[in-house]
Amino acid sequence: MKEKLLAEFERVFGGTEDARVFFAPGRVNLIGEHTDYNGGHVFPCALTIGTYAVARKNGMDTCRMFSLNFEDQGIHAFDINDIYYDKEEYDWANYPMGVIAMLNENEKRVDEGIDMLVFGNIPNSSGLSSSASLEVLTAFALRELFGFEMSLIDIALLSQKAENKFIGVNCGIMDQFAIAMGKKDNAIFLDTATLKYEYAPIRLSGAKIVIACSNKKRGLGDSKYNERRSECEAALASIQTKKNIKALGELSTEEFEAVKDVIGDEVKTRRAKHAVYENIRTLDAVAALKANDIERFGRLMNESHVSLRDDYEVTGIELDTLVETAWTVPGVIGSRMTGAGFGGCTVSIVKEENVDDFIKTVGDTYLSKIGYKADFYVVDIGDGPTEL
Ligand code: GLA
Repeated sequence: MKEKLLAEFERVFGGTEDARVFFAPGRVNLIGEHTDYNGGHVFPCALTIGTYAVARKNGMDTCRMFSLNFEDQGIHAFDINDIYYDKEEYDWANYPMGVIAMLNENEKRVDEGIDMLVFGNIPNSSGLSSSASLEVLTAFALRELFGFEMSLIDIALLSQKAENKFIGVNCGIMDQFAIAMGKKDNAIFLDTATLKYEYAPIRLSGAKIVIACSNKKRGLGDSKYNERRSECEAALASIQTKKNIKALGELSTEEFEAVKDVIGDEVKTRRAKHAVYENIRTLDAVAALKANDIERFGRLMNESHVSLRDDYEVTGIELDTLVETAWTVPGVIGSRMTGAGFGGCTVSIVKEENVDDFIKTVGDTYLSKIGYKADFYVVDIGDGPTEL
């Protein structure tokens, strides 16, 4: 991979002197969805697929960026002293630009242009965080090239800030944290209220993590993501008139049931209910995994999907078809949508001997019902960012 990327860099920018090669993973969330901006828990893991970059300082004030995934866009060039968001003009390059803008917000850490060639093997808009992967990758590569100090957690926080302030998506910390802090064969049990985290080894005793990609394209920016977040904030504000809490993630299910009538709006009550119950499910799921009760972990994944479908309403016919078909296949321990929803992917835990049958049955049903193909990936849990 390294040689191939360096050869491409040479083709695009001429010469590979001082060029270094970096990688950052994608992520999949096993359980704890739409809890991260509600001060709840999440349980994601980094993948071995992700985004690569070849990068070097170029001695100019101009950054030049090229993606092998979007060759037809050619080189995006911009001045490090004049960085602004432009969806049409810069397209994918807005993500690394946002990171540079945030790095230079208070002090000029990136004081020289770079040449950067990018290649990702995460399916785009799949819900496996290709954008967070690119953000963390950029921050990591710049830290290495410019030699400033920044911990991996600060890289995650800065990348989230780029997404919030530069791109305009009000995402939580889960994706950037999972990518920056990824650890092979482990999921990350993260309390998003405090950023306290714990690695949990994923031992599936003969089962595999299978991702099904709906191929329904979505961008978080045009989705209803920000709307869901505001609905939760409105519900929280109502509850705060009765209870002294900072986030929905502080409530037990009993406390929520006792106070929920104050919300006074049926839709917002369901949104808040999901946030509270999903947080508790995540705690239960991690406890089940620690107790080696993988069947219970799977049942909680299924319940998570039902809640995202009925109360949070972020699934849609594509994800529901993938998950509801998966539930009928022998050897499926659990299956749910993963990520923001509204398209994207599902994650399923499937016994090894049933994986082929799973892919065939779910794939055939999806094609006949939805009219286009789903793609399947049997994935491994990988490490955070590295230099190759
Ligand atoms: C997206 C966001 C995350 C999180 C998930 C839903 O992936 O980037 O912060 O909110 O959706 O769990």
